Order: sequence, then C-alpha cells, then structure tokens
Amino acid sequence: MAESMKGLHRTHRCGELNTSNIGETVTIMGWVQKNRNKGGLIFVDVRDRSGIIQVVFEEGKSDGELLAKAASLRSEYVVAVTGTVEKRSGAVNENLVTGEIEVLPSAMRILSESETPPFPIEENSKTKEELRLKYRYLDLRRPDLQRNLMMRSKIATLTRQFLAEEGFLEIETPILGKTTPEGARDYLVPSRIHPGSFYGLPQSPQLYKQLLMCSGYDRYFQIAKCFRDEDLRADRQPEFTQIDMELSFVDVDDVIEVNERLLAKLFKEVLDIEVPLPIPRMTWQEAMNRYGSDKPDTRFGMELIDVTETVKDSEFVVFKGAIENGGTVRGINAKGQGAMPRKKIDKLVSFAKDFGAKGLAYIAIQEDGSVKSSFAKFMNEEETNNLIQVMGGENGDLLLFAADKNKVVWDVLGNLRLELARQMDLLDKNEYKFLWITEFPLLEWSEEQNRYTAMHHPFTMPMEEDLQYIDSDPGRVRAKAYDITLNGNEIGGGSIRIHQNDIQEKMFEVLGFTKEQAYSQFGFLLNAFKYGVPPHAGLAYGLDRLVMLMAKVDSIRDVMAFPKVKDASCLMTEAPSQADDKQLEELGLELRPEE
Ligand code: AMO
Ligand code: AMP
Repeated sequence: MAESMKGLHRTHRCGELNTSNIGETVTIMGWVQKNRNKGGLIFVDVRDRSGIIQVVFEEGKSDGELLAKAASLRSEYVVAVTGTVEKRSGAVNENLVTGEIEVLPSAMRILSESETPPFPIEENSKTKEELRLKYRYLDLRRPDLQRNLMMRSKIATLTRQFLAEEGFLEIETPILGKTTPEGARDYLVPSRIHPGSFYGLPQSPQLYKQLLMCSGYDRYFQIAKCFRDEDLRADRQPEFTQIDMELSFVDVDDVIEVNERLLAKLFKEVLDIEVPLPIPRMTWQEAMNRYGSDKPDTRFGMELIDVTETVKDSEFVVFKGAIENGGTVRGINAKGQGAMPRKKIDKLVSFAKDFGAKGLAYIAIQEDGSVKSSFAKFMNEEETNNLIQVMGGENGDLLLFAADKNKVVWDVLGNLRLELARQMDLLDKNEYKFLWITEFPLLEWSEEQNRYTAMHHPFTMPMEEDLQYIDSDPGRVRAKAYDITLNGNEIGGGSIRIHQNDIQEKMFEVLGFTKEQAYSQFGFLLNAFKYGVPPHAGLAYGLDRLVMLMAKVDSIRDVMAFPKVKDASCLMTEAPSQADDKQLEELGLELRPEE
C-alpha cells in the first residue's frame, strides 16, 4: 500500500550526501535502483536525479517490521528513508560519488510501488531505442538522459542570464500565425472559425523578430519552438528549439562579438572549457574549396586539393571530360591509408557514388614507393608523379580523386573526408573547433523550381559591393550571412537584414515573386518598413544541436525530453492521431477516401 508524505520532509537529494554528513539524521526520497538481500543484511540503492545512495538494513539494528518492508522492495518502488549517515562498513564503491558512505535507516515509507519495468533503468542502456521511446517516462529516469536534460536546462538558464545582462529583452512571438519562410514545408493548423483557412506554425520567429526591431525593442531574444516538416535525421527534428535573437543598429562584427562571448561563457561554465576568442572566420568559398562543406569539421586536416591544372593535359577521359564540361578535379590525401585493401577502397567508391559521384579514382602509394592506381594506365609516369607531388603524397598514402561539376566534387570529397576521419578515428568528442562561415552566396539555383531561391531567407542583405550584379549575374551576389559551426555541425546561422524597401522588393523580384505575391505573403513586413526601420541583424542557434555536442552524444533525440522518430511520430503518445468526425466537421474538413 502506498503511504503518504504526511509530516515528512526531504532533507537532501541522494547524491548530495557525502562524508561531511556523517552522523547527521537525513531523509532521502527516490526510486529503488536495486535491492540485495544477504540474509539479515539488506542493501538498497536509492536513486534520484542527483545520484544513488546505499541504505543498509541490518538485523539487530533495524526492527523486524522495517526489515520485512525492506525485503519487500522491488526495482523502481518509490521510498522515503530516514536514517543516519555513516561511513561505509563494507568496501568503498569508487564508482559512486556517495561511495564512502551509507544510510542506516530508522524509518522507511513506501510511497509508491512499481510493476517490473519493461527494461532496466541503467546508464548506457542496451535496450532498443524504439522500446525506450515508447516508455520515454522510464527512459528519462536513466542517469545519462537526466544529465543531458540537466545540462540543457543549465545552458538555457545561462543564456537567459547572459542575454539579459547584455540588454536583450525576452519576448514571446505567436505559434499560431502566418508561417515564416525558412525553406522547409510548413505545418498547418486548420481554423474552426474560418473554415478553409489555416494558421502556419513558425519555422522560426524570423518575421516577428524583425517587426520587433521596427517597433524599437532594440535587442530581442527568445528560446523559441520552431516547426519544420522536413525529413528527419540525427540532427533534425520536426519540432526543435532555437536560441533566437535580433539586434538593431548593428553590423556583422557586432553580432559576432556578442555571440562569441555567449559561447565562451556557456563552454566555460558548463564544461570548464576556454573557447579561444575571436573564433576564426572563413568565407563560404574558402570552406568549399578547402573542405567541400559549408560546415567544415576542422578538428582534422585532409583538405581538398584542386588538381585541375595538374591533370588538364592528361589523356584520362574521366578527368578530361569533367574539365571540358566546366568541372574540376580535386583530391584528398588519406595519410597512411595506402595499404587499404581493395574491398575497403571499393566501399569508399560506392560511398562516393551515394553522394552523386560517377566514380572515384585513386592512387595507393605502397610503403616501398610502388603505386597502385585505378587510372595509371591512362597517364604516363611523369603525370602520375606530378599528381602525387601536388597531393603531397608520401609512401603509405592513399590519394582519392573526384572529377565533376564543383558542386558534386565538393559534396563527394567533403563527405568522403568525414567518412575517412571516422574510419581513421580522427574525431575527438572532447575537442571543440568553432568556425564562422561568412559571405554565403545570396541565392541558390533550384533545378526543381527552375528559379533562384534564397540560400538563407529572403530578408538577408546582399553584400554592398555585390549589389551591382543582382540583375546581370544574381548567382554571383554574396550575402551578409554567417553560420556558426562546431565540429562539422551548423549550430547557428543568421544575417544582416534588408531594411530598405527597394532592395527587399528587388530581392522578391529575383526570387520570382510578383509584387502582388510578395505583398500577399509578407505585406505586413513590407508595410512596416515604410514607417522607419532601424538597420538590424540577428542569429539563431539550434539549441538541441548545441546541447548534443556539449553532452557529447550522437543524436539530438538524446537531449530532448520527448523526441519524435524518423516518420515524425511520437512512439509514446502515438501522435499524430486521427481526428473524430465531429472535430473534422467543425473545422469544415472532409477526408478524401483512401485510394
Ligand atoms: P536557420 O534555418 O539556419 O536560421 O536555423 C537556425 C538553426 O536552427 C537549427 N535547426 C534545426 N535543429 C533541429 N532540427 C531542425 N529541423 C533544425 N532546423 C534548423 C540549426 C540552424 O543553424 N531565422 C533564421 C535565423 C536568423 O536569420 O536569425 C533561421 O531560422 O542549428
Ligand atoms: P573507368 O575507366 O570508367 O574504369 O574509370 C577509371 C577510374 O576512374 C575508376 O577508378 C573510376 O572509379 C574512376 N572514375 C570514374 N568516373 C570518375 C569521376 N567522375 N571522378 C573520379 N573518378 C572517376
């Protein structure tokens, strides 16, 4: 029978007790981790979010009723124990913070009983994630997840503190609104009062925060829920959280400066790591050329090398053809991998093909200096040697080449570089390498839509010196946009905004919007800009991604309390679920019969 809390007060959390409490009478409350009955001696580990403490019931010291109660305890029962803290009589447990002490109980209440849980509540669980997500409330009892969520809370608190001290106001913006364009599909919410009309859930607070700048709030922030109906990955959820901010009367350096201090504070106070400031910056163009990625992992080298010039006169049709088609040939040098077995190289080739490569050419330099190459027969010895030299190839190295349009070559080698780093164990989770990426292209050509789309979003300011190309060569225009990357992840991004109506209208024109379309979708913003708008800029972090990296885990699911799975459903609540007929009728909706 579950007992009540009447008259009982917790004095400590389990993990807060230490040798300085020896001799004190304490009351702890928590879940039974395990219960070992050694006949006359019962050891019960009690767990709460702070840790575990051992409680020892002993014949002679505890009365018979208490002993019987202790013997009845099973895993995950909730108990309250009052007793004295003593030095451990048995061996010290070095794995526990409380390993030198134990509690000798004088009283215990069973506050709640538990059925046998579907999986053990333990660190580094080996239970399948699907089962754990179905019982997420039990999964969340596990110490590793509890630590992650406690870290997340600390990061949010420190962020609020810091930004408040810097003069940012925390202001909430609507969830039911008009969607803001960040390039993903919108989630829609049907309106009951306006049948046939829909609210859009925000992909970010982008438009609202710009309007707040128009309204004179000067510096805004919000820890904001965002919704994007896109394909899920380890670092992507349909519903996620941003640390979102916007500032008035600033340029790029101002935004970067305050954010660097925020990051430094978070890393110092949460992980005791000094982030060397300023954080290095690299233009998008340089990042693509050197790393084949706009979020390069700079914990290791293996940079891309452009060998187009070196091979342009060779007879190897693969290289020649790519160059003639306006493409390039680039390579990476996987140091010390020259002895890689053929089978493994073939796997790299098919990995490259997954990213759009037509093939992957290689030169494996053996320890004795001899060379195995997939294209040696198409090149003379001098050409091969030149290529090796340009690539910095030494005995024992594996050189890999892709020839294609730049976009393909970058994507293939950028990803291959990461795959090799994983295989070669070059990625240290304890090392943190930040990098700002700047000067992104303003626009991106979409084959699918046969028009330019905004690389960041349509409110991003072109670089002043490139404005002259906006009509003649829009693809050449760079943006005043910046991403903050960490160990190969985009943890945040932002830009200077357009605050001039003529440039904003031009931007919509380039994006293929008619004036009517632009006004029907964003009229409130364009109108607001007619009444005195300060130059403004902002940035948003993916909080989940930041916590994921700080907690050194591989998925953002491990730092979110109730994440969704790949098909965007929640295994615990079984959302999304069907609406009943009455609800549909009220909303003026009718389901099309399934085909
Ligand atoms: P952006 O679209 O780059 O910019 O988003 C900012 C950051 O949010 C994170 N993020 C995600 N995290 C988890 N799941 C997702 N589906 C997901 N999508 C994005 C990333 C990303 O860097 N309004 C602009 C910001 C601005 O210009 O101020 C914006 O939303 O870490
Ligand atoms: P092939 O003559 O088609 O057998 O190609 C010779 C070598 O070039 C093989 O190792 C192919 O994988 C490689 N290869 C083919 N296409 C490309 C490409 N676009 N870029 C780099 N290597 C390629």
